[in-house]
Amino acid sequence: MYKILKAGKLAGNIYEMVVEAPRVAKHCLPGQFIIVKMDEVGERIPLTICDYDREAGTVTIVFQPIGASTEKFTTLKAGDTFRDFVGPLGQPSDLCTEPLEEVKKKKILFVAGGVGTAPVYPQVKWLHEHGIDADVIVGAKTKDLVILEKELSEVAGNLYVTTDDGSYGRSGMVTKVIEDLVTKEGKVYDHCVAIGPMIMMKFCCLTTKKLNIPTIVSMNPIMVDGTGMCGACRVMVGDEVKFACVDGPEFDGHKIDFDVAMKRQTLYKTEEGRALLKLRE
Ligand code: NAD
Ligand code: FES
Repeated sequence: MYKILKAGKLAGNIYEMVVEAPRVAKHCLPGQFIIVKMDEVGERIPLTICDYDREAGTVTIVFQPIGASTEKFTTLKAGDTFRDFVGPLGQPSDLCTEPLEEVKKKKILFVAGGVGTAPVYPQVKWLHEHGIDADVIVGAKTKDLVILEKELSEVAGNLYVTTDDGSYGRSGMVTKVIEDLVTKEGKVYDHCVAIGPMIMMKFCCLTTKKLNIPTIVSMNPIMVDGTGMCGACRVMVGDEVKFACVDGPEFDGHKIDFDVAMKRQTLYKTEEGRALLKLRE
Protein backbone atom coordinates (compact mmCIF):
# COMPACT_ATOMS: atom_id res chain seq x y z
CA MET A 1 0.00 0.00 0.00
CA TYR A 2 1.26 3.47 -0.87
CA LYS A 3 0.08 6.29 1.34
CA ILE A 4 -1.07 9.58 -0.18
CA LEU A 5 0.48 12.36 1.91
CA LYS A 6 -1.04 15.28 0.04
CA ALA A 7 -3.84 15.54 -2.51
CA GLY A 8 -5.43 18.54 -4.11
CA LYS A 9 -6.23 20.58 -7.18
CA LEU A 10 -3.42 22.44 -8.91
CA ALA A 11 -5.67 24.30 -11.34
CA GLY A 12 -8.91 23.74 -13.26
CA ASN A 13 -9.25 20.01 -13.70
CA ILE A 14 -5.59 19.25 -12.91
CA TYR A 15 -4.77 17.36 -9.69
CA GLU A 16 -1.55 16.85 -7.72
CA MET A 17 -0.67 14.12 -5.24
CA VAL A 18 2.39 13.47 -3.11
CA VAL A 19 2.74 9.74 -2.50
CA GLU A 20 4.96 7.85 -0.07
CA ALA A 21 6.97 5.53 -2.34
CA PRO A 22 10.60 5.42 -1.11
CA ARG A 23 11.88 2.85 -3.64
CA VAL A 24 10.54 4.77 -6.62
CA ALA A 25 11.82 8.07 -5.15
CA LYS A 26 15.27 6.56 -4.65
CA HIS A 27 15.72 5.28 -8.20
CA CYS A 28 13.66 7.46 -10.55
CA LEU A 29 15.05 9.97 -13.02
CA PRO A 30 13.28 12.71 -14.99
CA GLY A 31 11.40 11.34 -18.00
CA GLN A 32 10.35 8.12 -16.31
CA PHE A 33 6.83 7.15 -15.30
CA ILE A 34 4.98 5.01 -12.77
CA ILE A 35 1.89 2.81 -12.95
CA VAL A 36 -0.80 3.41 -10.39
CA LYS A 37 -3.59 1.05 -9.39
CA MET A 38 -6.19 2.26 -6.93
CA ASP A 39 -7.39 -1.11 -5.65
CA GLU A 40 -7.31 -4.85 -6.42
CA VAL A 41 -9.64 -4.55 -9.41
CA GLY A 42 -8.51 -1.09 -10.54
CA GLU A 43 -7.18 -0.28 -14.01
CA ARG A 44 -3.43 0.23 -14.42
CA ILE A 45 -2.81 3.90 -15.17
CA PRO A 46 0.60 5.13 -16.39
CA LEU A 47 1.45 8.63 -15.11
CA THR A 48 4.59 10.71 -15.53
CA ILE A 49 6.58 11.71 -12.47
CA CYS A 50 6.40 15.44 -11.73
CA ASP A 51 8.81 15.55 -8.80
CA TYR A 52 10.50 13.34 -6.24
CA ASP A 53 12.27 13.72 -2.92
CA ARG A 54 14.80 10.96 -2.35
CA GLU A 55 15.28 11.83 1.35
CA ALA A 56 11.61 12.07 2.21
CA GLY A 57 10.87 9.02 0.02
CA THR A 58 8.04 10.77 -1.83
CA VAL A 59 6.95 11.05 -5.46
CA THR A 60 4.68 13.78 -6.84
CA ILE A 61 2.24 12.96 -9.62
CA VAL A 62 0.04 15.34 -11.58
CA PHE A 63 -2.94 14.14 -13.57
CA GLN A 64 -6.10 15.19 -15.35
CA PRO A 65 -9.12 12.86 -15.08
CA ILE A 66 -9.81 11.45 -18.54
CA GLY A 67 -11.55 8.16 -17.72
CA ALA A 68 -13.34 6.29 -14.94
CA SER A 69 -10.13 5.38 -13.08
CA THR A 70 -8.51 8.81 -13.07
CA GLU A 71 -11.91 10.26 -12.14
CA LYS A 72 -11.90 7.98 -9.06
CA PHE A 73 -8.38 9.18 -8.18
CA THR A 74 -9.83 12.66 -7.67
CA THR A 75 -11.87 11.39 -4.70
CA LEU A 76 -8.75 10.27 -2.83
CA LYS A 77 -7.40 12.45 -0.03
CA ALA A 78 -4.38 12.61 2.28
CA GLY A 79 -4.25 9.41 4.35
CA ASP A 80 -5.81 7.21 1.63
CA THR A 81 -3.68 4.67 -0.21
CA PHE A 82 -2.95 3.31 -3.68
CA ARG A 83 -2.86 -0.48 -4.03
CA ASP A 84 0.08 -0.34 -6.48
CA PHE A 85 2.58 2.36 -7.36
CA VAL A 86 5.05 0.64 -9.65
CA GLY A 87 8.19 2.16 -11.09
CA PRO A 88 10.30 3.83 -12.15
CA LEU A 89 9.41 2.62 -15.67
CA GLY A 90 10.54 3.68 -19.15
CA GLN A 91 13.80 5.33 -20.11
CA PRO A 92 15.03 8.48 -18.39
CA SER A 93 15.44 11.62 -20.46
CA ASP A 94 18.63 11.60 -22.58
CA LEU A 95 19.58 14.97 -21.07
CA CYS A 96 19.92 13.31 -17.66
CA THR A 97 21.93 10.32 -18.88
CA GLU A 98 24.27 11.83 -21.52
CA PRO A 99 27.73 12.96 -20.33
CA LEU A 100 27.24 16.27 -18.52
CA GLU A 101 29.99 18.02 -20.54
CA GLU A 102 28.01 17.31 -23.73
CA VAL A 103 24.72 18.54 -22.25
CA LYS A 104 26.44 21.72 -20.98
CA LYS A 105 27.35 22.63 -24.59
CA LYS A 106 23.68 22.67 -25.63
CA LYS A 107 21.34 25.65 -25.63
CA ILE A 108 18.16 23.98 -24.48
CA LEU A 109 14.55 25.07 -24.88
CA PHE A 110 11.69 23.23 -23.15
CA VAL A 111 8.16 23.69 -24.44
CA ALA A 112 5.48 22.65 -21.94
CA GLY A 113 1.79 22.53 -22.85
CA GLY A 114 -0.95 22.30 -20.22
CA VAL A 115 -0.65 19.13 -18.10
CA GLY A 116 2.56 18.38 -20.05
CA THR A 117 4.21 21.01 -17.82
CA ALA A 118 4.33 18.34 -15.08
CA PRO A 119 6.90 16.05 -16.79
CA VAL A 120 8.91 19.08 -17.98
CA TYR A 121 9.49 20.37 -14.43
CA PRO A 122 11.72 17.53 -13.11
CA GLN A 123 13.94 17.75 -16.22
CA VAL A 124 14.47 21.50 -15.87
CA LYS A 125 15.05 21.09 -12.13
CA TRP A 126 17.58 18.27 -12.66
CA LEU A 127 19.49 20.37 -15.22
CA HIS A 128 19.49 23.39 -12.86
CA GLU A 129 20.89 21.21 -10.07
CA HIS A 130 23.67 20.21 -12.46
CA GLY A 131 24.56 23.79 -13.42
CA ILE A 132 22.51 24.06 -16.63
CA ASP A 133 19.76 26.66 -16.92
CA ALA A 134 17.41 25.89 -19.80
CA ASP A 135 14.80 28.26 -21.19
CA VAL A 136 11.18 27.17 -20.80
CA ILE A 137 7.95 28.10 -22.58
CA VAL A 138 4.77 27.20 -20.69
CA GLY A 139 1.49 27.34 -22.61
CA ALA A 140 -2.03 27.06 -21.21
CA LYS A 141 -5.50 27.85 -22.55
CA THR A 142 -6.13 30.56 -19.95
CA LYS A 143 -4.47 32.14 -16.89
CA ASP A 144 -6.29 29.76 -14.50
CA LEU A 145 -4.75 26.71 -16.16
CA VAL A 146 -1.08 27.71 -15.86
CA ILE A 147 0.63 25.23 -13.52
CA LEU A 148 4.02 25.08 -11.78
CA GLU A 149 4.94 28.64 -12.77
CA LYS A 150 6.59 29.48 -9.43
CA GLU A 151 8.48 26.17 -9.29
CA LEU A 152 9.75 26.55 -12.87
CA SER A 153 10.75 30.19 -12.35
CA GLU A 154 13.15 28.99 -9.64
CA VAL A 155 14.99 26.53 -11.90
CA ALA A 156 14.66 27.84 -15.48
CA GLY A 157 17.04 30.22 -17.25
CA ASN A 158 14.21 32.28 -18.75
CA LEU A 159 10.55 31.38 -18.30
CA TYR A 160 8.05 32.49 -20.94
CA VAL A 161 4.39 31.94 -20.05
CA THR A 162 1.79 32.22 -22.80
CA THR A 163 -1.98 31.78 -22.85
CA ASP A 164 -4.11 30.98 -25.88
CA ASP A 165 -6.58 33.74 -24.96
CA GLY A 166 -3.93 36.27 -23.90
CA SER A 167 -5.32 36.42 -20.33
CA TYR A 168 -1.80 36.06 -18.87
CA GLY A 169 1.79 36.35 -20.07
CA ARG A 170 2.27 36.40 -23.80
CA SER A 171 -0.63 35.78 -26.12
CA GLY A 172 -0.99 32.79 -28.44
CA MET A 173 0.09 29.19 -28.60
CA VAL A 174 3.54 27.89 -27.70
CA THR A 175 4.51 27.57 -31.37
CA LYS A 176 4.15 31.34 -31.80
CA VAL A 177 6.50 31.91 -28.84
CA ILE A 178 9.11 29.51 -30.31
CA GLU A 179 8.98 31.44 -33.61
CA ASP A 180 9.11 34.84 -31.88
CA LEU A 181 12.04 33.92 -29.63
CA VAL A 182 14.12 32.61 -32.52
CA THR A 183 13.16 34.87 -35.40
CA LYS A 184 12.42 38.19 -33.61
CA GLU A 185 14.27 38.05 -30.29
CA GLY A 186 17.55 36.57 -31.46
CA LYS A 187 17.49 33.45 -29.27
CA VAL A 188 19.55 30.49 -30.43
CA TYR A 189 18.68 26.94 -29.45
CA ASP A 190 20.18 23.66 -30.56
CA HIS A 191 17.99 21.30 -28.54
CA CYS A 192 14.26 21.41 -27.85
CA VAL A 193 12.07 19.19 -25.66
CA ALA A 194 8.34 19.60 -26.30
CA ILE A 195 5.84 17.87 -23.98
CA GLY A 196 2.09 18.35 -24.03
CA PRO A 197 -0.95 17.25 -26.02
CA MET A 198 -0.17 15.34 -29.23
CA ILE A 199 -1.43 18.14 -31.43
CA MET A 200 0.90 20.60 -29.68
CA MET A 201 3.90 18.29 -30.08
CA LYS A 202 3.04 17.81 -33.77
CA PHE A 203 2.98 21.56 -34.44
CA CYS A 204 6.05 22.22 -32.26
CA CYS A 205 7.92 19.69 -34.39
CA LEU A 206 6.78 21.35 -37.62
CA THR A 207 8.01 24.69 -36.22
CA THR A 208 11.37 23.43 -34.94
CA LYS A 209 11.99 21.48 -38.16
CA LYS A 210 11.65 24.76 -40.04
CA LEU A 211 14.00 26.43 -37.54
CA ASN A 212 16.40 23.48 -37.66
CA ILE A 213 16.24 22.66 -33.92
CA PRO A 214 16.39 18.93 -33.05
CA THR A 215 13.34 18.14 -30.91
CA ILE A 216 12.44 15.44 -28.41
CA VAL A 217 8.80 14.67 -27.59
CA SER A 218 7.12 12.43 -25.01
CA MET A 219 4.71 9.78 -26.31
CA ASN A 220 3.25 9.15 -22.87
CA PRO A 221 -0.32 10.00 -24.06
CA ILE A 222 -0.60 6.84 -26.18
CA MET A 223 0.28 4.44 -23.37
CA VAL A 224 -2.42 2.16 -21.99
CA ASP A 225 -1.02 -0.56 -19.71
CA GLY A 226 2.56 0.74 -19.66
CA THR A 227 4.17 -2.69 -19.54
CA GLY A 228 5.12 -3.52 -23.14
CA MET A 229 2.32 -6.13 -23.30
CA CYS A 230 -0.73 -4.49 -24.88
CA GLY A 231 0.90 -2.98 -27.96
CA ALA A 232 -1.17 0.22 -27.77
CA CYS A 233 1.86 2.48 -27.60
CA ARG A 234 3.47 1.17 -30.80
CA VAL A 235 4.88 4.11 -32.67
CA MET A 236 6.91 4.51 -35.86
CA VAL A 237 10.09 6.49 -35.25
CA GLY A 238 11.46 6.94 -38.77
CA ASP A 239 11.30 3.39 -40.13
CA GLU A 240 11.73 1.75 -36.74
CA VAL A 241 8.90 0.29 -34.65
CA LYS A 242 9.14 1.41 -31.03
CA PHE A 243 7.01 0.98 -27.92
CA ALA A 244 6.62 4.20 -25.97
CA CYS A 245 6.44 2.49 -22.57
CA VAL A 246 9.58 0.41 -23.01
CA ASP A 247 11.78 2.25 -25.54
CA GLY A 248 10.50 5.72 -24.61
CA PRO A 249 8.50 7.67 -23.67
CA GLU A 250 10.86 10.23 -25.28
CA PHE A 251 11.71 10.07 -28.98
CA ASP A 252 13.04 12.21 -31.81
CA GLY A 253 9.93 14.23 -32.66
CA HIS A 254 11.04 14.95 -36.20
CA LYS A 255 10.85 11.22 -36.95
CA ILE A 256 7.37 10.60 -35.49
CA ASP A 257 4.29 10.21 -37.66
CA PHE A 258 1.93 12.16 -35.37
CA ASP A 259 -1.16 11.59 -37.50
CA VAL A 260 -0.88 7.81 -37.09
CA ALA A 261 -0.07 8.18 -33.37
CA MET A 262 -3.10 10.43 -32.83
CA LYS A 263 -5.38 7.89 -34.54
CA ARG A 264 -4.13 5.17 -32.18
CA GLN A 265 -4.66 7.47 -29.19
CA THR A 266 -8.30 8.03 -30.16
CA LEU A 267 -8.95 4.33 -30.67
CA TYR A 268 -7.65 3.18 -27.31
CA LYS A 269 -9.29 5.97 -25.34
CA THR A 270 -12.69 4.37 -26.03
CA GLU A 271 -14.18 1.50 -24.03
CA GLU A 272 -14.36 -0.44 -27.28
CA GLY A 273 -10.67 0.06 -27.95
CA ARG A 274 -9.76 -1.04 -24.45
CA ALA A 275 -11.96 -4.12 -24.76
CA LEU A 276 -10.17 -4.89 -28.01
CA LEU A 277 -6.84 -4.63 -26.26
CA LYS A 278 -8.04 -6.98 -23.50
CA LEU A 279 -9.01 -9.53 -26.15
CA ARG A 280 -5.52 -9.35 -27.63
CA GLU A 281 -3.73 -9.82 -24.28
P1 NAD B 1 -4.18 22.21 -23.82
O1 NAD B 1 -5.11 21.66 -24.83
O2 NAD B 1 -4.66 23.22 -22.86
O3 NAD B 1 -2.89 22.75 -24.60
C1 NAD B 1 -1.76 23.26 -23.91
C2 NAD B 1 -1.03 24.19 -24.82
O4 NAD B 1 -0.56 23.49 -25.96
C3 NAD B 1 -1.88 25.32 -25.38
O5 NAD B 1 -2.01 26.35 -24.46
C4 NAD B 1 -1.09 25.71 -26.61
O6 NAD B 1 -0.05 26.61 -26.30
C5 NAD B 1 -0.48 24.37 -27.04
N1 NAD B 1 -1.24 23.86 -28.19
C6 NAD B 1 -2.42 23.20 -28.17
N2 NAD B 1 -2.83 22.94 -29.43
C7 NAD B 1 -1.87 23.46 -30.25
C8 NAD B 1 -1.70 23.52 -31.65
N3 NAD B 1 -2.60 23.02 -32.49
N4 NAD B 1 -0.60 24.15 -32.14
C9 NAD B 1 0.32 24.68 -31.31
N5 NAD B 1 0.23 24.64 -29.96
C10 NAD B 1 -0.85 24.04 -29.45
O7 NAD B 1 -3.51 21.06 -22.99
P2 NAD B 1 -4.14 20.19 -21.85
O8 NAD B 1 -5.62 20.14 -21.93
O9 NAD B 1 -3.53 20.50 -20.56
O10 NAD B 1 -3.53 18.82 -22.34
C11 NAD B 1 -4.01 17.62 -22.01
C12 NAD B 1 -3.26 16.61 -22.82
O11 NAD B 1 -1.89 16.62 -22.43
C13 NAD B 1 -3.77 15.24 -22.61
O12 NAD B 1 -4.32 14.82 -23.84
C14 NAD B 1 -2.54 14.44 -22.27
O13 NAD B 1 -2.48 13.30 -23.08
C15 NAD B 1 -1.40 15.35 -22.62
N6 NAD B 1 -0.23 15.09 -21.79
C16 NAD B 1 0.88 14.74 -22.43
C17 NAD B 1 2.00 14.38 -21.72
C18 NAD B 1 3.20 13.92 -22.46
O14 NAD B 1 4.04 13.27 -21.85
N7 NAD B 1 3.32 14.22 -23.73
C19 NAD B 1 2.00 14.42 -20.34
C20 NAD B 1 0.84 14.84 -19.68
C21 NAD B 1 -0.29 15.16 -20.43
FE1 FES C 1 0.96 -1.22 -23.63
FE2 FES C 1 3.18 0.14 -24.17
S1 FES C 1 1.42 0.82 -23.17
S2 FES C 1 2.68 -1.86 -24.77
